[in-house]
Amino acid sequence: MARNIIDGKKVAGIILQQIHEDVQEWVGRGNRPPKLQAILIGDDPASRTYVGAKTKACREVGIESDTVSFPDTISVRELKEEIRKFNRDDGIDGILLQLPLPGHLHPSQVIETIDHRKDVDGFHPMNVGRLAVGQPTFRSCTPAGILELFRYYSVMTKGRNAVVVGASNIVGSPMAIMLSRENNSGKATTTLCHKYTRDLTQHTIQADILIVAVGSPKLITGQMVKEGVVVIDVGINRLTDVTSKKGYRLVGDCDFDSVSEKASLITPVPGGVGPMTVAMLMKNTLLAAKKSIYPSKE
Ligand code: GUN
Repeated sequence: MARNIIDGKKVAGIILQQIHEDVQEWVGRGNRPPKLQAILIGDDPASRTYVGAKTKACREVGIESDTVSFPDTISVRELKEEIRKFNRDDGIDGILLQLPLPGHLHPSQVIETIDHRKDVDGFHPMNVGRLAVGQPTFRSCTPAGILELFRYYSVMTKGRNAVVVGASNIVGSPMAIMLSRENNSGKATTTLCHKYTRDLTQHTIQADILIVAVGSPKLITGQMVKEGVVVIDVGINRLTDVTSKKGYRLVGDCDFDSVSEKASLITPVPGGVGPMTVAMLMKNTLLAAKKSIYPSKE
């Protein structure tokens, strides 16, 4: 791998190995293995692939998992009832509701039904709120994984210009909160850009650290960044490619060739952020099993 490429697969592998050991220790002390309940709605192939990767990681680290699939015609009421069953089940530590949801199901309405003590995605308002005020919480997996990459590659955030492009609840918004918090992985001067931002380049060109999570292929080009920038590309876009076996290839939100010429560090797509998201989900599921965040009934 080129010298400036961030190897998310490698770092995730190291973290998963550590989680595997922690799970063994936890079970060795007489506890049942942690369990993750995954919920898939509809038949979006990408969602299916992501949930498959997550349950595979569970097997690798000794976490039990179960996946339940519902048709995309499921009503809000039915889905909430299913989630409440998982909330009540003491054999389930973490609940993963794979997003996006079909149009008639509003994510915030459904996510609020998940017991915040089992919200290993860190999407429940209780966990997002605790993140914002600096209390222990389940941190959303993708931004938490990005901070782990910074730790591994010794990327300092304190006092630097961090620019986040994309303000989603899954990535951009919690990422901006984490980077701006007064702790060792934060303290960055943080700018949150989104689709309403005028003259995006005016912001991205200032970035020491640039995190892009929009879902727009090649949105960021080499001319939009400065020399030495650290670039985290969260985008996973499927582009039709008749020459590939699958009929498509994955590209990020950055024009990799031109941006990587200027970047001191950059994540590839795939193999950058994706494996870190999965590793952080495993970490949160173990925390949930150990009741590390919420020790008693609240
Ligand atoms: N869809 C895209 N990213 C994620 C994620 O981290 N968790 C869930 N549940 N759905 C997603």
